[in-house]
Amino acid sequence: ELPKTFEGSVDLGIIGGTGLYQLDCLKAIAILPAMVTPWGVTSSPITISKVIGDSQEHFHVAFISRHGLHHQYSPSSVPFRANMAALKHLQCKAVMSFSAVGSLQQQIKPRDFVLPQQIIDRTKGIRESSYFNDIGLVGHVGFGEPFSKSFAQYIGQFGDVLKNSDSEEPCELHVDDDTTVVCMEGPQFSTRAESKMYRMLGGDVINMSVLPEAKLARECELPYQMVCMSTDYDAWRDEAEPVTVETVIGNLQNNSANANALASTIITHMSNEIPNFMLTGDGLKGSVKMSISTK
Ligand code: ADE
Repeated sequence: ELPKTFEGSVDLGIIGGTGLYQLDCLKAIAILPAMVTPWGVTSSPITISKVIGDSQEHFHVAFISRHGLHHQYSPSSVPFRANMAALKHLQCKAVMSFSAVGSLQQQIKPRDFVLPQQIIDRTKGIRESSYFNDIGLVGHVGFGEPFSKSFAQYIGQFGDVLKNSDSEEPCELHVDDDTTVVCMEGPQFSTRAESKMYRMLGGDVINMSVLPEAKLARECELPYQMVCMSTDYDAWRDEAEPVTVETVIGNLQNNSANANALASTIITHMSNEIPNFMLTGDGLKGSVKMSISTK
């Protein structure tokens, strides 16, 4: 029985996507029941862990499962605001999130990893995407660079761990610095025509979860990076069948060891030496500007 409370402050927040529920490098020290916030209840209990082999035991990680422990929240119904508010409340210094994506580019093979740096919003405006709705405040914050460049660069160092893994299919971590993720509403996948349109717009990968997560992290002034794992080629390739759920789930399961190895390497290095962007806040502190709403 692990404690249900945790008194210290957390260093890194992790939002696990479909297929990523546990990390090899972590040893749980507390499991907080799903947290009640002014924006609803988090999608899962929050596991607080230390890093195995971290002799100083100063580094703590909080893990939330985006779609819930029973995968009960669809991308359109994830309590994104509660999840990010909970990580902020626990004093996380940065948030690393994981998501399965479809690939819109031939060179991003299923099972490859990418670190997006830009987002195209194709959600339908039905998700609560700000903390400043309905509270008599307007909050403005820059979103031209929706992810943390320093965080992406930091993660980019560790791609080699994928080459050493024992899975038969080689996979790689792409570290190009202008990768664009298209965020669609779902739950249906795209038509072929839409998939081709997203390629013309400059999309490299596509998912249903990066928004509003990235916007809320920015409103919380938290450095945020999503690590995307490609599970399929979506629907743009005329010669191939469009994406199916079976393909997505199959690749997620077959590649979970790689996802785990990559995440664990990143976290273990962070616990050995906390990266600068986590110590300084990556220039985001004080970036949210607020005024009174007179509407
Ligand atoms: N998640 C995984 N593959 C996807 C795809 N092809 N479209 C949208 N979201 C996805």
